[in-house]
Amino acid sequence: MITGYKTIVFYICGTAAMGGLLFGLDQGFIANSLETIRKVYGLDIRSAEHYSSILATGGVIGALLAGIFARYLGRKRSLVLSGFFFCSASLVSAFLPPLIILYVCRFLLGFAVGVASFVVPLYLAETAPAKIRGAMGTLFQLLITIGIFLISVTNVFVATWIANPQTALPLMFAVIVIFAGLMFAGSLFLPESPRWLALKGRRDQAMAVLQKTLNTPDDVRRELMDIEGALGNQSVHGRIVFKGYFIKILLVGIFLQMFQQLVGINVMIYYAPTIFGYAGMTGIIAMMTVPTVNMLFTFPAIRLVEKWGRKKLLYVGALFMLITMLAAGAAFSMIGDQTDPSMIGGVPKTILLVAVILYIFGFAVSWGPVAWLVCSEIFPLQGREVGMTVTTMVNWTFAGLLMDNALTFMQTHGHASIFFLFAGFCVLAGAFVAAFVPETKGVTLEQIERNLKAGKKTRYLGDQGFVN
Ligand code: BGC
Repeated sequence: MITGYKTIVFYICGTAAMGGLLFGLDQGFIANSLETIRKVYGLDIRSAEHYSSILATGGVIGALLAGIFARYLGRKRSLVLSGFFFCSASLVSAFLPPLIILYVCRFLLGFAVGVASFVVPLYLAETAPAKIRGAMGTLFQLLITIGIFLISVTNVFVATWIANPQTALPLMFAVIVIFAGLMFAGSLFLPESPRWLALKGRRDQAMAVLQKTLNTPDDVRRELMDIEGALGNQSVHGRIVFKGYFIKILLVGIFLQMFQQLVGINVMIYYAPTIFGYAGMTGIIAMMTVPTVNMLFTFPAIRLVEKWGRKKLLYVGALFMLITMLAAGAAFSMIGDQTDPSMIGGVPKTILLVAVILYIFGFAVSWGPVAWLVCSEIFPLQGREVGMTVTTMVNWTFAGLLMDNALTFMQTHGHASIFFLFAGFCVLAGAFVAAFVPETKGVTLEQIERNLKAGKKTRYLGDQGFVN
């Protein structure tokens, strides 16, 4: 339990992290609603796929523009903006508009997700006190997984109990409208990020926010000095992105987000029911195992990320995912070309189910939260928007690529193949962490920045300067 912080810190972090909930609601929406959407709009498989994947396109563009919004409008107003898009796009969708408008709305939801996936971690990293920065940052991921779970449950429920798709679909969207409304309203009352205020030269306002969030005047003074020190060190505005040290750390963020997707998580999030179906498993287990395990095992991550640190979690996660992907591949190798589900034995089914559960566990306690968290911590203040824009776009691009190609890949190369491929990426991901990723637990963002500018190797950026 995290204690010793002002209540407002929890309001600030909780409200901002609602952006994560909306991310999850939209990400998880498709799995159990697609049939209903297809019935209402008479979509064939291709159009349905297209409808699903527009979210990722919106996400890439949202992430691209989010950097500009965050810099010029501020972090808070960018959150308000994404809340507005979440709200309006899901509300319009709930009225079952013409198909083209429904597509536009899904794109706008993706856009809002892109903005939120950029701004929320940034805002949390800049506003939460250093010692709980990791835990609060993890909230973002926790709420993503709660969102995926919640919408999976409500969509299964609605689809089961309401036979008329014309009535069911508006209700499915209504769930998103409610939470989007809460996020929109809540974010109107958030304070601006003190680091953004300082960046804009609004020292007094930055101090006022720090006074709200920190416990003692000493803490406020120290934090403000640290922030201003980092700002004072900025040589030429805007040019930082061309500096060698920035490019170095940008590559770390890019690879981290790329690996977060290449280990295969969204193939499970989107297609678990289909994949279980290939192994002859259907029903509630196929539909609910992944979202449930994903949500439950993100809770321990909140504590572990501060206790064990980021890197240890990344190693443990990569190892779990490696072993379980090999096991899932082995299960499908045992199944072979069998297409008659009744002929598939209990052994491969059990191996597959256990492997998927442990795989999701491995991701949920580690790469899920930590990739976003580390990307919100490693960039110097002046280049933070650019760094997070690029890394968020990379995340969405690879997410989209995998969603678009995974099933075809399995059909072309055999069902087992994709799991062995993901296992290979887990090995590369682990090696990458060992060689390049810094441990950022308990270090102020300014210390990380000083180390970076002093030319330290990226994996040593968390050295020294622990706050207490
Ligand atoms: C990833 C998403 C994924 C989610 C699953 C996030 O960290 O970025 O792509 O759907 O975790 O929980």
